[in-house]
Amino acid sequence: VTDDATPPHDDPPVPPAPVAAGTARDAALGAVGRPGSRRLVATPALVCDVDLLEANIARMAARAAEAGVALRPHAKTHKSAFVAALQLDAGAAGIACAKVGEAEVLVAALEAAGHGDVSVLVTSPVAGAAVAGRVAALAAACDLMVVVDHPDGVDELAAAVAAGTGTGQLAVVCDVDVGLGRTGVTGPDPALAVVRRIAGSPGLRFAGVQGYGGHLQHLPGRAERATATRTAAGRLRSVVDALEADGHEVALRTGGGTGTAGIDMEDRVLDELQPGSYVFMDQEYRDALGDDPEGRFAQSLFVATTVVSANQDGFVTVDAGLKAMATDAGPPTVVGHAIDVHYHFFGDEHGLVTQAPPTRFARGDRLDLVPPHCDPTVDRYDELWLARGDTLVGVTPIDARGCSR
Ligand SMILES: Cc1ncc(COP(=O)(O)O)c(C=O)c1O
Repeated sequence: VTDDATPPHDDPPVPPAPVAAGTARDAALGAVGRPGSRRLVATPALVCDVDLLEANIARMAARAAEAGVALRPHAKTHKSAFVAALQLDAGAAGIACAKVGEAEVLVAALEAAGHGDVSVLVTSPVAGAAVAGRVAALAAACDLMVVVDHPDGVDELAAAVAAGTGTGQLAVVCDVDVGLGRTGVTGPDPALAVVRRIAGSPGLRFAGVQGYGGHLQHLPGRAERATATRTAAGRLRSVVDALEADGHEVALRTGGGTGTAGIDMEDRVLDELQPGSYVFMDQEYRDALGDDPEGRFAQSLFVATTVVSANQDGFVTVDAGLKAMATDAGPPTVVGHAIDVHYHFFGDEHGLVTQAPPTRFARGDRLDLVPPHCDPTVDRYDELWLARGDTLVGVTPIDARGCSR
């Protein structure tokens, strides 16, 4: 765990905050810039250490630049225009979004933040005329690419573009299943069917292929992960070869995630990478990647929680439970207490934190939890509090929270 390891009850004293007037949120905001102000945020809350976040963004950007691959960080992790803007400022070619709704909101928020005409790739295929119409409308607001994995999807997009008012062509990427089995064409022949259909649609332009190996990202052991990544890359390569033999230019080969980024950079089958989780580096990734090169990012995201009851021997109760974080990847870890303290889910609103001497938490103590799985944890919060060490530096909206359509 990379955050400061000071036990919460040893935090330095905080100057009196103006709690009488306004909300707890106002009080925390009023203390921005003051040492110790981080502990004024009402819990449970999502807090990001910006020093660590910026270091993660700079590290991935430098690695990609050195390897000569483009970076299109996936915004599904943070859903935040603030974080996306940092990534774009660090040289990202654009952003990836999982859903059209996520892209709609982030494009508008980035535009307001001075990042107009951002390049966006929607990495999930869409189905139905209504969402295809939204894609066509969004193409007027940004430099948009969208993936497709079936000729019918191509037809829906072509019809939406023809019905719209835009004049340009919509860039379409063929999604290729490289082993995950979630979406994507399953081999060269279905890929040819999709790409020939795109080529025959006047309002569409074939932009390239996507091969995202979600099944590879958390494979423990770098050698095993590298072998499996090369198998997946071979599947993408065979599709690219078939498309090129059929006369199509495959200008873009996009995919990859945090767990395979270093391997993808070495192998160069992908020329654009879409890692998302590296900005926050959740516990699931930390456990899977350990000290591998792909794992060398700091855990920058925390669920801040408060001890609300300490009447029992051996454990205390905190105010962050099942509703405060995603629970699919096990319990969170407690910052600064990797060995002696363990968190257990204790119902919807509470967590049970065991402690071993000399640790002894008291009612009112604050703890930082490292979320087990960052993306769905972020999606539970309206705001991300920003801190540098123990000092609050601001708060920013999770702009695309809940935008899953
Ligand atoms: C299509 C696609 N690309 C990239 C990513 C980012 O992966 P990670 O968060 O593991 O870096 C994801 C995550 O689910 C994804 O679905």
